[in-house]
Amino acid sequence: IGGVKIAKDDVVRESDPTNNVPDNIFSKIGLQLHRRDNHPVGILKNAIFDYFDTNYASKFVKFDDLCPIVSVQQNFDEVLVPADHVSRSYNDTYYVNADTVLRCHTSAHQAELLREGHSHFLVTGDVYRRDSIDSTHYPVFHQMEGVRVFSPDEWKDSGTDATSYAAMDLKKCLEGLARHLFGAVEMRWVDTYFPFTNPSFELEIYFQENWMEVLGCGVTEQDILTRNGRKDSVAWAFGLGLERLAMVLFDIPDIRLFWSTDQRFTSQFSEGKLGVKFKPFSKFPPCYKDISFWISDSFTENNLCEVVRGVAGDLVEEWNVREAVQGKLYVTLR
Ligand code: PHE
Repeated sequence: IGGVKIAKDDVVRESDPTNNVPDNIFSKIGLQLHRRDNHPVGILKNAIFDYFDTNYASKFVKFDDLCPIVSVQQNFDEVLVPADHVSRSYNDTYYVNADTVLRCHTSAHQAELLREGHSHFLVTGDVYRRDSIDSTHYPVFHQMEGVRVFSPDEWKDSGTDATSYAAMDLKKCLEGLARHLFGAVEMRWVDTYFPFTNPSFELEIYFQENWMEVLGCGVTEQDILTRNGRKDSVAWAFGLGLERLAMVLFDIPDIRLFWSTDQRFTSQFSEGKLGVKFKPFSKFPPCYKDISFWISDSFTENNLCEVVRGVAGDLVEEWNVREAVQGKLYVTLR
């Protein structure tokens, strides 16, 4: 969709009871933080691309402009999510209408890309989930999906079965990625369940005294390959949350900051600079006020500071005289 905004009226019939996408969520479509080279999400995406380009001779085809409005079939059926799975509910997923959702994961594109014949690909994009509110959850975030398909001749001499071969290759690839991003970190694999992979794993990284889940992955269910023209192949897939990783790499304390257009946020990051530490700033926007006083000969700066402190208390963190010209005193208060 190339950064073009989509108007809600173009896709949602007025008062369609099968739509649960509020305007503020709709307004996020097309913003594409992952395609901004100076934004932490874009910087991280590019760093992951570098890893794959270097280690796989640029074999992975990259998609980062696939439309986030997808069919229920793409988002759920094609990745074998059971008909009664909770993630399909109106409580968890944004439905544009009964058959169309805002994708809740980049896995929604796996099947179509397999059908198109791709065997190495990365899909980056915005994903949408109805969720509770706190500093690490936001209803829109960004994921990167990776898929690699092996043909039989790649594992037949390996001495192991296809599934173990793919699982081993997957873990090696992702451990390498984690080291590329984090340096020498402690990591562990945790067994888990996804409808579309078997076996399935989560990778956790020990960071700031906590084990943090950074991605889900596994060996692609054979059914997905068979249905999409890859009957005799084996494949792996992973999906990682870019904000989660970026919060750690850049020291960004709150996921909402990624959406900030405040210069004090945006100016801190630049292309290619992974892991520059974020410096916090006030939640309040700067504002300018003129105040006039009649002053007498007994005026001193400290007397005025005393008045300011008396009124504003500890809300005032800093007072700087910028200049004093023609009887006017210009000060900055923080
Ligand atoms: N789609 C999964 C999620 O969003 C992640 C995943 C992708 C897991 C690919 C396995 C394979 O949580």
